[in-house]
Amino acid sequence: MEFTRMVFVTLLCLCTHATSLPNFVVIFADDVGFGDLGCYGHPSSLTPNLDRLAAEGLRFTDFYSTSPVCSPSRASLLTGRYQTRSGVYPGVLYPGSIGGLPLNESTIAEVLKPLGYATAAVGKWHLGFGPNGMFLPTKQGFDEYLGIPYSHDMGPCHNLTCFPPDVKCFGQCDMGTVLVPLMHNEVIKEQPVNFLDLERAYSDFAASFITTSVKKKRPFFLYYPSHHTHYPQYAGEGAAGKTSRGPFGDSLLEFDNTVGNLLATLEESGVINNTLVFFTADNGPSLMRMSRGGNAGALRCGKGTTYEGGMREPAIAFWPGTIKPGVTRELTSTLDILPTIARLAGAKSPPVELDGVDMTEILINHGKSKREAMMFYPTDPSEKLGLFALRLGKYKAHFFTRGSTLSSTTPDKECSMFAVLTAHDPPLLFDLEADPSEHYPLVPSGETDIPALLERIKKVKERFEASMLFGESQIGKGSDPQLEPCCSPQCRPKPHCCQC
Ligand SMILES: *[C@@H]1O[C@H](CO)[C@@H](O)[C@H](O)[C@H]1NC(C)=O
Ligand SMILES: *[C@@H]1O[C@H](CO)[C@@H](O)[C@H](O)[C@H]1NC(C)=O
Ligand SMILES: *[C@@H]1O[C@H](CO)[C@@H](O)[C@H](O)[C@H]1NC(C)=O
Repeated sequence: MEFTRMVFVTLLCLCTHATSLPNFVVIFADDVGFGDLGCYGHPSSLTPNLDRLAAEGLRFTDFYSTSPVCSPSRASLLTGRYQTRSGVYPGVLYPGSIGGLPLNESTIAEVLKPLGYATAAVGKWHLGFGPNGMFLPTKQGFDEYLGIPYSHDMGPCHNLTCFPPDVKCFGQCDMGTVLVPLMHNEVIKEQPVNFLDLERAYSDFAASFITTSVKKKRPFFLYYPSHHTHYPQYAGEGAAGKTSRGPFGDSLLEFDNTVGNLLATLEESGVINNTLVFFTADNGPSLMRMSRGGNAGALRCGKGTTYEGGMREPAIAFWPGTIKPGVTRELTSTLDILPTIARLAGAKSPPVELDGVDMTEILINHGKSKREAMMFYPTDPSEKLGLFALRLGKYKAHFFTRGSTLSSTTPDKECSMFAVLTAHDPPLLFDLEADPSEHYPLVPSGETDIPALLERIKKVKERFEASMLFGESQIGKGSDPQLEPCCSPQCRPKPHCCQC
């Protein structure tokens, strides 16, 4: 077929220049909702660089992460597998967690390394620290790492400065754990981290990684999961007080500035036309933080829930000269990033059951998605309850609904912690194209042939669940305070003495 041949020829051109394997930059924002960016309709956010990526690249309207919380959604992005397979559930990892992303899982970095890629991670890891730092990025295929290995509210923040000149971080962070460290590879550089300088440190690290890789003529993969927009928000001189949206807006602006720095580095190093930049976010907005949380736009609820606001995310693919500007409404997911990168680089897929599908057709030709369905697991997946929801085409079926503390404080009662676990049999059905806000369940007298639809959904669900082998829960292994990162391991009394 003409169409297929065109794709093939385009791909051939990308892959046969031995010296020009494409570079990959994956940017992962934290707790950013569907409605937070300027290019997704937020009226007061300032996100000029992300807006530029969207204007000159491909913007996704139906892109999903696999979990409404941080650690599992990161595990899926890096492995192309639902978190239930790797065991990164329930909830998230803590500073003293015994488990982490299992080392036998293959990350995007590990998929690319055999082809000679230089690999680096900068920012929020949150896939485990573990005994002797055994779960750090440097153990998962990344040559280099600079960042905080978990969320930056996982440590006392009362006396830390989040905005200049000396505005203390807002609200309550975790007490009784070590102060938040900044790690370089496996070494603690600062404890506590200095939030006001963090952006500069990350930008410099990323720029140096890119320019060094280019100088050595090595293709590269940079993974940049940012912290900024997670609670407590912070920003340095360049962004503090610069937006009308307040602290969340300022932190989002500083994050956006980083994106600008990255683009400038790619341009100056002459590799911008040979680099796929992919932006998305880990989960929906933390609505419990009210105006300091993000915004899910037209979508229902946010972080912690399996409503659309919890897991549908902004996403942008940018590659000048290769990806034509536009908008795609294809059903897509963070799961699909690994297979796509593997395909574009000509790398071998890991020999495991992948849940992701190749998106190349969508990127290069604005074509169709190979993804049939999207599965929604709650923060605490179990084999007993199985999927909470499933999207098939434009329809979404909820088998269970539940609110979350993380989405409390909105006027919608279904989002809050008081909305207890409710089973729906038959499932609650929505047409997400007619009703993206999941307000109006389909009724039998409507246009849709509901029995036929339910039958299709049931088949897809059964087939998927039969293929799902739950990995041993890594977070269920618990925590040991002795494992928390400490810059002076012998000091007493812990955790307070861990300060350098
Ligand atoms: C990793 O090892 C565990 C424990 O041996 C095993 O259950 C799991 O299937 C392995 N995962 C992969 C991706 O090989
Ligand atoms: C903050 O600093 C004050 C004064 O130095 C000290 O008394 C207090 O314990 C500190 N609080 C935390 C949470 O570190
Ligand atoms: C990238 O390609 C565009 C045309 O698509 C060209 O104008 C630009 O100069 C190229 N940039 C670099 C750094 O090669």
